[in-house]
Amino acid sequence: MTALLRRAILGDVNRLGELHSASWTELYSDLLSPEILEELGPETMGDLWKRFIFRGDAYVQYVAEVDDEIVGFVGIGPGRESGYEDATELYFIYVDPAHRRSGVGRQLLAKADADYLWIAEANRDSRAFYRKNKFFPDSVAREGAIFGAPLAEVRMAR
Ligand SMILES: CC(C)(COP(=O)(O)OP(=O)(O)OC[C@H]1O[C@@H](n2cnc3c(N)ncnc32)[C@H](O)[C@@H]1OP(=O)(O)O)[C@@H](O)C(=O)NCCC(=O)NCCS
Repeated sequence: MTALLRRAILGDVNRLGELHSASWTELYSDLLSPEILEELGPETMGDLWKRFIFRGDAYVQYVAEVDDEIVGFVGIGPGRESGYEDATELYFIYVDPAHRRSGVGRQLLAKADADYLWIAEANRDSRAFYRKNKFFPDSVAREGAIFGAPLAEVRMAR
């Protein structure tokens, strides 16, 4: 399937909030309390997207549309760790489960043109997706945290 890819705009934030909130629940419901997941609901995430969109030229977000509906998104920006400021980091990528395994993620990743990303070590499926798209572990790992919950992460680069 070929999705239409374009820059995210202000008019997208409601749908993006919905999708991004769903991604928190999908990825972290084992790790985060129902209260925190509720706080990360569509409205909060939609508000956050308004900030993403106006964050500045170095920060870029794309959406993927199928039949005029947004089914995925990706966000990139400068590397967030010391020494990586000139590199492009993939901050997030997500495809609506109903549209997975049809190439939308690959299209978004290609468009983002990032150099590296961090991913939860436990997220085997997405690590397979990145490997398939020529991102490989670069032997750097960290003990990260989200909302106080420990999260083991690995870095992948191309
Ligand atoms: C990772 C994600 C973006 C992939 O999106 P997608 O549209 O399903 O990916 P594609 O269809 O482009 O997949 C391309 C290739 O990657 C590999 N791949 C994708 N998903 C995979 C999975 N779950 N398990 C194993 N390999 C996978 C496959 O080789 C696939 O090609 P194939 O379907 O012909 O076998 C999507 O699964 C997702 O949103 N996951 C939840 C969010 C997430 O984990 N984000 C990354 C961490 S921030």
